[in-house]
Amino acid sequence: MRLLADHAPIPLRNPLTAACAIHALSAAICFALMAAPAPALPTLLWPWCEGLCAAALGAAWKLPRWWLPINLLFFPAAFALMALNVPPVFWLAGFGALVLLNFASAAGRVPLFLSTTQAAAVLTTLLPQRAGCRVLDLGSGTGSLLSDLTRVRPDAVCTGIEVAPLPYLLGRLRARFNPMLRMQWGDFWQADLSQYDVVYAYLSPAPMARLWQKARAEMRPGSLLVSNDFCVPGVAPAETIPVGDRMRSTLYIWRM
Ligand SMILES: C[S@@+](CC[C@H](N)C(=O)[O-])C[C@H]1O[C@@H](n2cnc3c(N)ncnc32)[C@H](O)[C@@H]1O
Repeated sequence: MRLLADHAPIPLRNPLTAACAIHALSAAICFALMAAPAPALPTLLWPWCEGLCAAALGAAWKLPRWWLPINLLFFPAAFALMALNVPPVFWLAGFGALVLLNFASAAGRVPLFLSTTQAAAVLTTLLPQRAGCRVLDLGSGTGSLLSDLTRVRPDAVCTGIEVAPLPYLLGRLRARFNPMLRMQWGDFWQADLSQYDVVYAYLSPAPMARLWQKARAEMRPGSLLVSNDFCVPGVAPAETIPVGDRMRSTLYIWRM
């Protein structure tokens, strides 16, 4: 299984798509067993059978450990919730809201969570003193970090790029009342980093190596790459600043 996972087609190397495939396979196995002339289990236990099967397959596929309880409980929880007789449109609406909020999670493995105001305060101290300095937030969420920055440095030009529709719209709304805030909808991998004095990222471990390559290729000498919480593998930062917030955030800083 491990060997299979390493050589699987690229979509299946993504944990989310791998988990979907694993559940489809586990459900197929359970349906096949249910169709046997003498099904071995009472109906209520079949979701648990699927869960056990998916948890075992997920472990064999070497999905990250936190997938184990998700795989085990997904079908039993879904069946239990069906008993509540909630109209399906509510589940669809919940799913839609999740997609609109976390558009980038599936492919890019970067979910939405926001920097604290303390992280924004520390970031402010790193900005060049020059008026009109340019800051880019890669994956700017609702624009809250940049909004905090412009409160302390109203002279800084702050740009955010966000791909998830709902956070982007909230950011756009903020930008309507803040002339130094520019929100763009799109994929930050397409952005030209050479325009900025400070590039800030609060992403996940997954894109950091690729981000470093991009930063090295595009950022101007003297500009700063600042990452909240996630270090570039194998590249020591020039400076590390503990933020001292409730999230125990750390800012890693590389000078280009
Ligand atoms: C952890 S949140 C950080 C939000 C904000 N920067 C902050 O610090 O409060 C990461 C954001 O990056 C967005 N994102 C991930 N990949 C992206 C991409 N390729 N292009 C644009 N946005 C992306 C996600 O949708 C998510 O809103």
